[in-house]
Amino acid sequence: MSLVSNWVGRPWLPYFLMVTTLAVLSCSQDRQYENYGDIRTSPGGISLIDPEEHGGGYGRTSCLVCHNLELNLHRSEGSSFSNAEQLNDTIRENGGSTFCLKCHGANGTD
Ligand code: HEC
Ligand code: HEC
Repeated sequence: MSLVSNWVGRPWLPYFLMVTTLAVLSCSQDRQYENYGDIRTSPGGISLIDPEEHGGGYGRTSCLVCHNLELNLHRSEGSSFSNAEQLNDTIRENGGSTFCLKCHGANGTD
């Protein structure tokens, strides 16, 4: 039996196949991590001193509006943190966004 004659009387079949294919594909995708390469090699190192390297975020203090501790921060491949969860706990216990500035510089807010 050909594929086309299989569809006769089953008009929903192509849609069913399409939806299941999309569902399977989207499940097989990796969670998105924040990854900007090795940020230690930029002129300021991990300090945010250049508006160019921090599109959208430069001059702002509420880091956690855009960066997500629960999901992906400090978990990129090649990160120097073998235990991102430990660092992220320390950040949570020490005032969140304000603690980011200790390592990442004033981010144009000084
Ligand atoms: C309005 C959203 C927003 C806010 C607020 C924000 N960021 Fe970002 N941040 C971004 C985006 C978008 C990028 C990716 C920028 C790019 O690739 O140009 C980024 C990238 C970065 C990077 C990597 C930079 C690099 O060298 O490639 C660091 C580190 C960072 N943010 C830290 C912070 C810290 C610390 C704060 C708070 C002081 C903060 N961000 C606030 C949106 C934001
Ligand atoms: C103890 C120092 C320290 C603190 C505190 C810290 N960071 Fe980082 N962060 C780093 C270092 C070092 C890197 C360089 C990449 C790596 O080794 O993971 C980095 C990398 C990043 C990156 C690049 C992508 C990634 O996820 O690796 C972003 C974005 C970032 N930090 C945002 C933040 C934000 C937002 C906060 C506060 C909620 C924060 N950092 C607090 C040290 C710190």
